[in-house]
Amino acid sequence: MALILGGLGCDPVDLRPDDVNALRAALVAAGYTYDGVAGLLGPTAHRALSRNETTPGLRATRDRSPLATLTRLWPLQAPVALEDAERALPGLVDPLCVAGILERSVAEVRARVDVRPYADEDTDWWVVSDLTPGLDGTGNRVGADHVLGISSASTSLAQLTVREPVGRALDLGTGCGVQALHLAEHVGDIVATDVNERALAMTRLNAALNEVHFDVRAGSLFEPVAGELFDLVVTNPPFVVSPGTGERLVYRDSGLPGDEVVRRVVTQAPRHLEPGGRAQILANWVHRTGEPWQDRIAGWLEGSGCDAWVVQREVADLAEYVELWLKDAGLHGSSGYRERYDTWLSWFDSQGIEAVGFGWINLRRTDRQPALHLEDWPYEVEQPLGAEVADRGRRTDFLAAADDTALLQARLSTRVDVRQETVGAPGAEDPETIVLRQQRGMRRAHQADTVVAGLVGACDGDLTLGQILDALASILGEEPASLRERYVGEVRGLLADGFLAPPR
Ligand SMILES: C[S@@+](CC[C@H](N)C(=O)[O-])C[C@H]1O[C@@H](n2cnc3c(N)ncnc32)[C@H](O)[C@@H]1O
Repeated sequence: MALILGGLGCDPVDLRPDDVNALRAALVAAGYTYDGVAGLLGPTAHRALSRNETTPGLRATRDRSPLATLTRLWPLQAPVALEDAERALPGLVDPLCVAGILERSVAEVRARVDVRPYADEDTDWWVVSDLTPGLDGTGNRVGADHVLGISSASTSLAQLTVREPVGRALDLGTGCGVQALHLAEHVGDIVATDVNERALAMTRLNAALNEVHFDVRAGSLFEPVAGELFDLVVTNPPFVVSPGTGERLVYRDSGLPGDEVVRRVVTQAPRHLEPGGRAQILANWVHRTGEPWQDRIAGWLEGSGCDAWVVQREVADLAEYVELWLKDAGLHGSSGYRERYDTWLSWFDSQGIEAVGFGWINLRRTDRQPALHLEDWPYEVEQPLGAEVADRGRRTDFLAAADDTALLQARLSTRVDVRQETVGAPGAEDPETIVLRQQRGMRRAHQADTVVAGLVGACDGDLTLGQILDALASILGEEPASLRERYVGEVRGLLADGFLAPPR
């Protein structure tokens, strides 16, 4: 099968499988990996490039080696001499020009789309996407069908995703296919969907270049997978909250007003989950006057049959929100900037919207009464967080199955990364405050009294919770039944939040 890329004003054309293989071989031969490019650039130029500045990178890539040529061509978006390009990409300059990936003049070659090395802990990939706009302050206006490269939101979702082996996954709104590439590490069959044909063409090319297989389908939201079930759905949908009527950048604007696209994803995803299946969604949601954000999302989850762990990571005030997205569209300083800004704010006013929340929505299909947990957590967390999402699910299952009697009979363990911090006056016998702090995962803190500190200190999987509480009651001269009753609720919270772990 030939790969159709096209777009950007050129006719759709084919990159033959042989050329894909030759491209991969050339990238390997040049050492064009994430570490290879980072090593060539050095830390200063690498950091500068992450700020969209190319000058230090151009200074670091003057040796005309194939790695320097490819780095100048793609990440730095500089023209390279035709002979250098031919040396770095033997036999490929013409096919890549025909495919719309490169363009050439008599003596020079430049990139029309990006081909960029990308890596996580274990794997290296190459990702084809549209060129990063706005290098060196050149302005970041892009076409409506711009295919975004790897953004901080892409990485957030990739790090949140539970990486346990499963049979079937959906990457909804795949863009250049970055989530699908990660899924290929632990999922058997991957369906990748998008409404943007150029994105789908790039995703197909990325699958071929990285020697993985995706079932790539065109269509909106869950339409392309009607009636199908998945073990895992991941999506970073086009969630920008706007009136939904202006010009549309398809990578960020759904064309639907407000947070309607997120409501649709959240309400429809559960119907596509296998028992125990998960949906992990990056989202914006509106804060309306008189409606706590938690109520809004809990309303979307009614009857879903899913446990939900929703984490609000940030709340943007409306002015900063509008500025962020007008700048993202390259409109800051444009002639209609103030008018657009004002219109957007007026629409927020008319809708009673006070702020916009950003965060993570983790759903997991269950056949028992679903457990909902919606929280604000703007603090730093350990990344990647996927293992903690999976662990939280296991703890939720344990808590749902254990009544208080069963909980008191359970042999719990304190998570190994929990540390105790005490604060008090110098020389004082007892601390004024005790804080239990996680070093990993969500990095939560829990203010503890002496009973909770003693209990968490004693949970090593040997004694039952009831035995530990009874021992503490006898040390403190308290009535055992009353101590059990007073603390069993707090222990549930400590388990849910991961300070304590259920028996293995
Ligand atoms: C923010 S980008 C995410 C791209 C990629 N998945 C990532 O994580 O970086 C959102 C993607 O959703 C696609 N999209 C927009 N509207 C859509 C819709 N109604 N149904 C499915 N995908 C849509 C866009 O074309 C874009 O590729």
